[in-house]
Amino acid sequence: PVWMMRQAGRYLPEYRNLRTKAGSFLSLCYDPKLATAVTLQPVERFGLDAAILFSDILLIPDALGQTVSFIEGDGPQLHPVRNLKDLEKLSNEVNFSHLSPVYETVSTVASQLNENVALIGFAGAPWTVATYMVEGHTSKHFDFIKRWAFSDPSSFEILIKRLTDATAMHLCKQIEAGADVVQIFESWAGVLPPKEFARWCVKPVEVITKRVKEQFPEVPVIAFPRGAGVGYIGYADATGVDGLGVDYTLPTTWVAKVLQPDVCIQGNLDPQILLVGGSVMRAAVREIKSALNNGPFVFNLGHGVLPQTPPEHVAELVQLVRED
Ligand code: CP3
Repeated sequence: PVWMMRQAGRYLPEYRNLRTKAGSFLSLCYDPKLATAVTLQPVERFGLDAAILFSDILLIPDALGQTVSFIEGDGPQLHPVRNLKDLEKLSNEVNFSHLSPVYETVSTVASQLNENVALIGFAGAPWTVATYMVEGHTSKHFDFIKRWAFSDPSSFEILIKRLTDATAMHLCKQIEAGADVVQIFESWAGVLPPKEFARWCVKPVEVITKRVKEQFPEVPVIAFPRGAGVGYIGYADATGVDGLGVDYTLPTTWVAKVLQPDVCIQGNLDPQILLVGGSVMRAAVREIKSALNNGPFVFNLGHGVLPQTPPEHVAELVQLVRED
């Protein structure tokens, strides 16, 4: 099977069209009709094996009462939460009625999807969402969040715990609404020392997976700890996830030997190679398939589709993945 992270997005003219209609990125996420259409666009165009809910990991801080906006070309901007005092200004619990349009999108998509296409719900992992909440934007150095986590772990834990509870509930609500699978995005798994990685990345994902499994033991959980490096070893076992998204820095033969015996692998074409296309892409796809096709494997990218990607390259990629 094949699907792609950020398969719905700005590289598709039909997405840009609806995005303009919605006005802002957030209004697109909160409009069930438009979000449904956008979720289905890449599935209809390319015949992918899964649809991923169109939404964003930063709807959780939005539903906690933090000011979140997406500025064209500048990415997300949040009014930062940098200590316990700031945290006390946010709600203790997510306002799930604020997120009801998201669950409505899930159920509408589920009712419209062909039965052999999976619907993937998702959320950000607590650490990754916290980086945006504390830094206020996409960060390079993670100065504020690291200083907080290292200098006062017991108050930082309050933030992580709140996000852990919210994320587990958010995933369960998506499953109730019709998601077949859920994915946890840990985009910033690669920025912590090992002890802190275990405490702030691995542990919360373990708790979330356990809570999802208590309610929905049959629903697969995928985690994508991007950039975890040697942290990938033992990660699936420690968190209890069924699927492991691998980034493009991991050698596929190593993944096949060390990780794939224990867990279904998902990945890992570099999105820049998809953008470049042609013989470079064909060779890379062949290499990934020959290394990983002998075990449980879902073809994907090693990160999301880039906005400048020609849609024809995506169509060719799907064909390459499916041919023998
Ligand atoms: O994958 C999909 O097609 C489903 C939808 C989806 C989006 N974001 C839509 C989106 C998913 C699964 C995400 C996850 C997400 N959001 C992550 C984890 C994956 C990753 O990329 O590491 C993160 C870190 C975010 C936070 C976020 N949202 C950032 C940093 C940005 C700005 C960067 C950018 O590409 O512009 C967004 C905006 C965003 N989320 C867009 C889309 C399609 C582009 C916004 C637009 O249309 O203006």
